[in-house]
Amino acid sequence: MLEITNKIYYVGVNDRNKNLFEGLWPLPNGVSYNSYLIDDEKVCLVDTVEVDFFTQFMEHIQEVIGDRPIDYLVINHMEPDHSGSIALIKKYYPQIQIVGNKKTFQMMEGFYGIADNTVEVKNGDSIELGHHTLSFVFTPMVHWPETMVTLDTTCNVLFSGDAFGCFGALNGGIVDSQINCDTFWLEMTRYYSNIVGKYGTPVQNALKKLAGVKLDYICATHGPVWHEYIDKVVGIYDQLSKYETEPGLVICYGTMYGNTERAAEVIARAASEAGVKNIVMYNVSKTHHSYIIRDVFRYKGLIVGAPTYNTALYHEMDVLLSELAGKDIKNHLLGWFGSYGWASKAVSEIQRWNDERLHYEPVGEPVEIKQSLTAETTAQCEALGRAMAERLLKEA
Ligand code: FEO
Repeated sequence: MLEITNKIYYVGVNDRNKNLFEGLWPLPNGVSYNSYLIDDEKVCLVDTVEVDFFTQFMEHIQEVIGDRPIDYLVINHMEPDHSGSIALIKKYYPQIQIVGNKKTFQMMEGFYGIADNTVEVKNGDSIELGHHTLSFVFTPMVHWPETMVTLDTTCNVLFSGDAFGCFGALNGGIVDSQINCDTFWLEMTRYYSNIVGKYGTPVQNALKKLAGVKLDYICATHGPVWHEYIDKVVGIYDQLSKYETEPGLVICYGTMYGNTERAAEVIARAASEAGVKNIVMYNVSKTHHSYIIRDVFRYKGLIVGAPTYNTALYHEMDVLLSELAGKDIKNHLLGWFGSYGWASKAVSEIQRWNDERLHYEPVGEPVEIKQSLTAETTAQCEALGRAMAERLLKEA
């Protein structure tokens, strides 16, 4: 097992089997469930792994400590991708003391029926392992209410839970210095935006609590151990949680027979001619919403369009707008358009989503297309693309 530093070992596992994380989010490159073992006078395990991987997990632990017992299990986060092996770990190590906070233990009893041998810590408390000292910083809602991070103050190592995590299995290398990390950056943004993205303010609060703390390693629960790229990774989380964006445009549309898609093409062309270089376009029925949500976090401008279907909004667009509303994304611009065959609904429904839930800044005049584009509606689409471009370029 890889020793990260000073007898802190990586004992996590890779999941290249699951199609959808949380049953929702595609994993084209897999995902890792990271766990760490500190081999000190007191042996301490930090977080566990999803229970399907328990056999490998135990092999990794025993490769480090053989038949010696584990004294402590620190639980930074109770979501079952990390807590799933608690009950089995307790069967193998019945004397283990589980370290967490009050909310951790309420959840642990609920999920696994475990309530004994617990050590409840408060924000700022510490435990001594011998050489290593661990202190605990509560970071509620990054990503659940019980979430905390654990700081090894002896070695400047942060066990950060989901914070600073990303999708993507670890293909041999564990620490960023061993890996070409290029494939991780966009997957970090997709992970952040879809999993943690709703909680920008709690992430900012957590970053403030950790500001000024010297860190040599960040050991998150998903993705590489960060060492060389600590500043970059903290910067990505800081930027995303402040809803800071690049001056670019996402155009996302639903289409049945190509009429709404043609309108999207006209809008994109006009925005491009007006000077917007970063334009990404998605058919909402083809591209998984997690990639669209990722790019909405990256770019300030969004234009959505869809047909009317069953005298309502085309349902894939309805689902996407519902997901975006659930993320509570701030500081964004929205333009919209829609089409209909005989009963108009899409445009008014998109407007309702924005008025009631999204609260993005409206840009340009919405365009409504009856059956197919005309010279008049083509000109309206061009005007919408130009209006968005002007607004975006004013920010640049
Ligand atoms: Fe990776 Fe919120 O669990």
